[in-house]
Amino acid sequence: MLNPDTDDGSWRTAVLDTWADLVSRVCPPLPYVLEPMCGLGAQARALVARLGGRALGFDINPEVVALAKRLFEGPAFECKCLDLRTLPTFAERFDVVVFGYEALNAHPVSRWPMLLAWARTHCTAGSVMILDVCGKGRGFGLRRGPGLFIDCTASNHLFTVSCNAKSGIRISRRYVCGQDELLGMIKDHGFGLIGCETPFANVNTDKPELRVMKTVILVAE
Ligand SMILES: C[S@@+](CC[C@H](N)C(=O)[O-])C[C@H]1O[C@@H](n2cnc3c(N)ncnc32)[C@H](O)[C@@H]1O
Repeated sequence: MLNPDTDDGSWRTAVLDTWADLVSRVCPPLPYVLEPMCGLGAQARALVARLGGRALGFDINPEVVALAKRLFEGPAFECKCLDLRTLPTFAERFDVVVFGYEALNAHPVSRWPMLLAWARTHCTAGSVMILDVCGKGRGFGLRRGPGLFIDCTASNHLFTVSCNAKSGIRISRRYVCGQDELLGMIKDHGFGLIGCETPFANVNTDKPELRVMKTVILVAE
């Protein structure tokens, strides 16, 4: 819940703009963008708004997917109801794959290699993959208390902030991963590191966890 005394929500616009300005600089023009766990697909849509092209997002929550379709579906954005845990396959190959806010952090580190391998099968050489992960120092991922549930909030103009009240999946795990371990996984799955940025360090918000969000930018080799 927003506390209107300290947070009017405007930081979300700044976060999304800051992120999309950064990421779009490394993406090819007119990309086909895939956003797993997309919520309303705000990140993929923000890239398409800057670069042209089109996006496919998918989310496990049918209500969020219905809202995304109602608000945003069109030639540039399609949204499907799919569960990432089933590792759905697509006939298409994508130029950009976005594991956006919380998507990777929602999985234990032990599953990250599987997700990287799945993403790689949907990329051609030169495709860009974006991983938003929490990171501090040389660590990635957050330590949360065991069994924490996070509610799903959908916002019609920005991104969903959190997840899982509907899907019932616990996203709280110990998932701290060393930087070297992440870099090893990236290499093992056929991606090269282009950059690791902390785009929100200067965004004015009282959400300290955003300030440690890193955007890891990879290229499929
Ligand atoms: C943090 S939110 C969406 C973030 C998104 N990047 C945005 O900006 O809107 C995470 C989303 O993941 C979805 N989700 C959770 N588990 C999932 C799964 N196994 N497969 C697909 N979607 C899932 C939730 O329903 C929720 O909408």
